[in-house]
Amino acid sequence: MIKKGIILAGGFGTRMSPLTKAVNKQLLPIYDKPLIFYPLSILMLSKIKDILIIVNKGQINQYKKLIPDGKNLGINISYKEQDKPRGLPDAFILGEKFIGKKNVAMILGDNFFYGQGLSESLERCVKLKSGAKVFLYKVTNPQLFGVAKINKKKKILKIVEKPKKFISNLAVTGLYFFDKNVVKYAKSLKPSKRSELEIIDLLNIYQKKNKLTSEFIGRGGAWLDTGSIEDYYKTSTFVYAVENRQGLKIACLEEIALINKWITKNSIKKQIKFYGNCSYSNYLNKLIKSSV
Ligand code: TTP
Repeated sequence: MIKKGIILAGGFGTRMSPLTKAVNKQLLPIYDKPLIFYPLSILMLSKIKDILIIVNKGQINQYKKLIPDGKNLGINISYKEQDKPRGLPDAFILGEKFIGKKNVAMILGDNFFYGQGLSESLERCVKLKSGAKVFLYKVTNPQLFGVAKINKKKKILKIVEKPKKFISNLAVTGLYFFDKNVVKYAKSLKPSKRSELEIIDLLNIYQKKNKLTSEFIGRGGAWLDTGSIEDYYKTSTFVYAVENRQGLKIACLEEIALINKWITKNSIKKQIKFYGNCSYSNYLNKLIKSSV
């Protein structure tokens, strides 16, 4: 079982400037809560309680104001700084001590997942014993993504970054599951032309060893990347539409912790005090009164 997870929440957020000039992208709102809540909720839905959040240099205190140490969510959060964006595999080099000799999940701080069957898929992923697993999503514009060609057993035959020629419509999303070798493999990578370590190169090490498998987000699910202003706006609108239609919140961290039996309703009361009088607190108040 994978019990450790990393959220990579640094980056320049260049495409979202000037919004990201003073505030890190992952602290900006997606409708009613900061973006970081969404990837964090995915790790919590995967039943991962030990989480490392990697942030830009000098930004740990900003994040700690929002999520100090995870105690009120029944989880353990620690932070690490990345002095500059060196690429996604850098997460495993920076996270070496945190990972130790354990398997680990990694999610990009700006990736949004939602939908039917998601928790079941995540539970299958954290069972990974050896090798690596990626989360795939069918897209209409595969030329814009890292794309995977798979066989019937969901094994990955080929993985290509932004293919000019069609190989498959399955995009590799920003959620990955790795065995403990990931630190060693990440350290063996050489920077690419854009001077970054590339996740595709890391995945290809596993693929060459015939150890790269996949899991799907099906028809009832959504994967949205919030990297550009337009994507960001679309994700906010999506959350607004779903939450207001159903009266249920997406990525309410306290609700997930309560369902997982990691916290009691008393901890939620503390969180309500912390957040103050807002719609998120009103929702938490309702949770306390309900019978979950
Ligand atoms: P990107 O979308 O590649 O980068 P970015 O968010 O800085 O945006 P832009 O391209 O507009 O400058 O990164 C994907 C996610 O991974 C995002 O949440 C930031 C994070 N990231 C890091 O934390 N460190 C890194 O070295 C890289 C490459 C990304």
